[in-house]
Amino acid sequence: MGKKLALERIIHNQGFGARKLCRMMIWNNEVTVNGLACDDPNTEFDLDGLQYTVKGEAWDYREKSYLMLHKPSNYECSHKTQHHPTIYSLLPHPLVVRDVQCIGRLDEDTTGLILISDDGQFIHQMSSPKHKVAKIYEVTCKHPVDDSQIAHILKGVQLIDEDAPIAALACTRISGHVIHMSLAEGKYHQVKRMVAAISNRVENLKRIQIGALKLPDDLAVGEWRWLTESDMVKLGHTSMRL
Ligand code: URA
Repeated sequence: MGKKLALERIIHNQGFGARKLCRMMIWNNEVTVNGLACDDPNTEFDLDGLQYTVKGEAWDYREKSYLMLHKPSNYECSHKTQHHPTIYSLLPHPLVVRDVQCIGRLDEDTTGLILISDDGQFIHQMSSPKHKVAKIYEVTCKHPVDDSQIAHILKGVQLIDEDAPIAALACTRISGHVIHMSLAEGKYHQVKRMVAAISNRVENLKRIQIGALKLPDDLAVGEWRWLTESDMVKLGHTSMRL
């Protein structure tokens, strides 16, 4: 037997609104638990493997949420945006209420893999420089990239405001204008600044991998999905309760 909690509290802490609103939805028969109707907000349920629906939409109980998003261009990685819609508008409202945060921001014109969670410890670990999880970018450059430019990126380029040169962990040419670049850090506009430092210019930027976790081919632009146990292992995390 795992931990038990009253239905009203379950629905509330999963992000469905104030306690009073959750109570009313339960009274109104808008909530089912493990396939059965329940109109008593005080009925307690075991949280282990709990499945519920709210207004016909099915959910699994999740103590914390861990997800990935395929970020589109022209979306900002911020709750308070300036020029474009927020990436959080692409997620179901209960997750936003749970105050999920993205782990490392992408520029508004960058697309690709972004991780999102409401687990502060996970966010901290994943963004800590100590954790050193590589991020791989597909970079389309304005001018063809030659061997000497790749060698320069691998040796290290000096960026303004940085004490020491910064090198990519790996850099491979995919075609004349396209390279894959793997970075240990996540400094402000890092890819764009590194490419500018080799006298080239980023035309298109997409994050295709974090650690060993690749952006899945079947995750369309603008779509999100929950992280699986195997995704967590690829990120170097094995002890999360999903
Ligand atoms: N580097 C950049 O320049 N922009 C991003 O969005 C991510 C890495």
